[in-house]
Amino acid sequence: MYKFVVLLSSLLAVSALPSPSPSELVNQHNDLLISEDAVETIWDGTCVYPKPDGRFKPNEFLGKWYQQAGTETLYNFGCTCVKADYTKNANGTIGVKNNCKRYGQPTEVLGSASPVNPVYGEKGALRVTLDGVSEKTGACPGPNYIVQVYEKNYMIVQTAHFEALTILSREQHVPDPQVDQWLRYAKSLGSELSSVVRTRQTGCAA
Ligand SMILES: *[C@@H]1O[C@H](CO)[C@@H](O)[C@H](O)[C@H]1NC(C)=O
Repeated sequence: MYKFVVLLSSLLAVSALPSPSPSELVNQHNDLLISEDAVETIWDGTCVYPKPDGRFKPNEFLGKWYQQAGTETLYNFGCTCVKADYTKNANGTIGVKNNCKRYGQPTEVLGSASPVNPVYGEKGALRVTLDGVSEKTGACPGPNYIVQVYEKNYMIVQTAHFEALTILSREQHVPDPQVDQWLRYAKSLGSELSSVVRTRQTGCAA
């Protein structure tokens, strides 16, 4: 059994603490309520997770999404034309097909996504596993794909500890001012933007 505490917390304050116990976090609660940039998170005794958007609709979410901006990670480094295609698997999971052009070469990674224990959020909290990509040791037990904002035309997706932001849209080509607005929104919801880059979606035709 996990013990869960839902709290209003400033992410930076939380992640700066060396493995705080849930009670320590609860004690901080009152102090942090006055912080202007406080965001609601979920703590499972190991990791801190953004709260998912309850308006997430699994069926509507299927199909193609184009990454407009994201944190540079080992997996997407050097990628342009980042695209995700979500489908329904016969066993009830979501099929994941991630494409990008890495230094001009098309690359594809397949995987699947499943809902997690609803204590992490009734909707919009998923665990994605990618074929051939093994999990870091000490990885968080909860979701690694949390839809913080779900709209018909775009999504703000985060991971545990707000480690990697991804902004995905239904349209491949989105004007910069619109993406900037989504980035500001993501920042207000706890994302740290210093290693976030705009994802190029030009020259993508196969
Ligand atoms: C569900 O099906 C997909 C596609 O065949 C597969 O990749 C995945 O491992 C399956 N998951 C489970 C939990 O059976």
